[in-house]
Amino acid sequence: MKNILKIATISLIGASYLFAGSAPKTYPAGELGKMVKLGEDISANTDTHPLTKDLVGNKLQCKSCHLKGDDGKTGTGDGISSWIGTATAFPAWSDREKSVQTLEDRSNACFMRSMNGKRLPNSSEASVAIASYITWLSTGMPINMNEKGPWSPHNTELYPKSAKSFKTIIEKATHANYVTGEQVYKAKCSSCHGENGEGVDGTFPPLWGQDANGKWLAYNTGAGMSKLAKAAAWVKSNMPLGEGGTLKDQEVADVVLYINAQPRADFDLQKGLLPKEQMGYFNSKVLEEKGSVRGNFKVLKLDIDEIRGDKKIK
Ligand code: HEC
Ligand code: HEC
Repeated sequence: MKNILKIATISLIGASYLFAGSAPKTYPAGELGKMVKLGEDISANTDTHPLTKDLVGNKLQCKSCHLKGDDGKTGTGDGISSWIGTATAFPAWSDREKSVQTLEDRSNACFMRSMNGKRLPNSSEASVAIASYITWLSTGMPINMNEKGPWSPHNTELYPKSAKSFKTIIEKATHANYVTGEQVYKAKCSSCHGENGEGVDGTFPPLWGQDANGKWLAYNTGAGMSKLAKAAAWVKSNMPLGEGGTLKDQEVADVVLYINAQPRADFDLQKGLLPKEQMGYFNSKVLEEKGSVRGNFKVLKLDIDEIRGDKKIK
């Protein structure tokens, strides 16, 4: 009933909405159940968990973007980036790595990019635990290997279409959109994410910048979230928290332009890899990739200096 009400409310405000499903009611028995629970714990405490903290280079957790649903579990939210059904899509083709990726490969890519850290070795305890947890969230769903991209059926339905339509809007951006973006940020986001994107420790995740010791706080410039059109699709679907779908497309485009024009760590794929003897085989045909804030704007033929006006960024 609650879900029917939810769908009815959201379709009234005109947002594209899909109910993702929920986590199973019970855990598997024995050691497998323990691994699922370990993965659940890591996904909610990634930057502080003993098995993963040294491989994370910011203050985020998987749940910062793979949002909790009504059951309070990471990745069961209905918006873009739900993990319900994700395991059914793998092995899946990934254009970024130019290889067929497993679920572990895909999760470990988020460590290098979204978590600004290092790729976990496949089959390490943490990597298997996360894959166990995410697979458990697809219990009972049919295999649906994805030849287009490493996304669940749910995310495939929502993500690429939305990102494509935001690309058309953001390509036209000027300094005026940056100014509006800052206003939208102050009105709709800064109460939780902080005036300077710093977040609130333990409650609201940071969006950009560094702490007093120079440690980066948020996702780096290789992350999906750092790419303007993808970030807009995610924000439209999920933010402000609990009110996904309520902002106008132009407001979303402008606020993302503002957020992703702020300082964040440059991405260097090679730096995201552990030494070969620790990492094992790296399942990617692409071994070099660099990212920067400037580069992420250039992809849409935008000049970061013009967009920011006098506020220069490296
Ligand atoms: C800063 C936001 C962010 C964080 C933090 C993050 N991710 Fe992601 N993740 C994304 C986005 C955005 C996508 C989809 C984008 C794409 O495929 O380009 C994604 C996709 C995925 C997918 C594929 C899901 C699907 O069905 O499309 C998996 C699996 C995944 N992430 C695992 C993880 C794990 C494990 C962690 C924690 C270690 C994590 N992510 C942390 C943003 C994030
Ligand atoms: C009511 C508080 C609240 C408001 C308002 C809000 N957010 Fe969030 N946001 C959150 C929380 C909480 C999370 C992480 C969810 C979790 O950890 O369970 C999040 C996650 C995010 C993330 C992914 C994680 C990261 O830190 O990169 C982005 C991007 C984001 N929000 C952008 C926005 C934008 C843009 C707005 C304004 C349009 C906004 N948020 C408004 C609470 C809020």
